[in-house]
Amino acid sequence: MNDYNAPSNLLNDKVILITGAGDGIGAQAAKTYAAFGATCILLGRTVAKLEAVYDDIVAAKGAEPAIVPLDIKGATPSHYQQMTQTIIDQFGRLDGVLHNASILGHLSAFKDIDAQEWQDVMQINLNGMVYMTQALLPALLKSDSASVIFTTSSVGRKGRAFWGTYAVSKFATEGVMQTLADEYQNKSIRFNCINPGATRTNMRAQAFPAEPPETLKTPEDIMPTYLYLMGNDSADVNGESLDCQPK
Ligand SMILES: NC(=O)c1ccc[n+]([C@@H]2O[C@H](COP(=O)([O-])OP(=O)(O)OC[C@H]3O[C@@H](n4cnc5c(N)ncnc54)[C@H](OP(=O)(O)O)[C@@H]3O)[C@@H](O)[C@H]2O)c1
Repeated sequence: MNDYNAPSNLLNDKVILITGAGDGIGAQAAKTYAAFGATCILLGRTVAKLEAVYDDIVAAKGAEPAIVPLDIKGATPSHYQQMTQTIIDQFGRLDGVLHNASILGHLSAFKDIDAQEWQDVMQINLNGMVYMTQALLPALLKSDSASVIFTTSSVGRKGRAFWGTYAVSKFATEGVMQTLADEYQNKSIRFNCINPGATRTNMRAQAFPAEPPETLKTPEDIMPTYLYLMGNDSADVNGESLDCQPK
């Protein structure tokens, strides 16, 4: 689907929440969704980065976004419930979520995985995403056609030495997606995963510091698949895990 050609009004009138919207793929996705008509809710932990994305969207004449400063590491289910109430009060519904925020942690031998780091990676990459999705469901079910996109990785489908913590968090992400897709298959909501593939961001540089960045796709290059899964052209796609850069 990375050759998908989105119509310019694809996301008109849609309200979409993007996590990790201040940097990397999430920042590009927010700007792209806004350019195709969406009102974006920008969630992230670094306010200055969220404000920069906000400014870019407004400068490009996109709908004024909302900013939700939130560190997923410390957030509890009640934070997500309050956020959902605010979304319902302000917008009446939610049409899409891109669960994008994640951390890599340190790559290490399985026997050396630090217990605290395991907890932190699972809290940000998995638990927060689960609690947020639970809380957002009432707002999503008010939409005529809601799309929830989870971000996976190739190491979330086939394990790889030294990637233990991050890889397990992404395997679990695939499991959360499949469970929800099955549970809500007859409702106006769909759940899918997206695997960006190697993409030029801070996280990729952290994992592969010696790699020349110019050899990698940019976040902008991979946006067609992000648009396809968020817009109504994928209304019948549920329970799939799509690759932005298929081999
Ligand atoms: N880049 C790749 O090659 C690649 C490949 C496969 C999968 N992925 C997946 O794609 C997604 C985006 O990755 P990326 O490469 O764009 O990474 P990135 O550049 O590191 O961006 C990650 C974003 O998540 C936010 N974030 C991290 N911890 C958070 C927390 N505790 N609370 C709130 N926000 C938090 C970051 O906020 P700050 O900017 O404030 O730190 C940042 O905006 C991730 O799910 C990643 O696993 C990436």
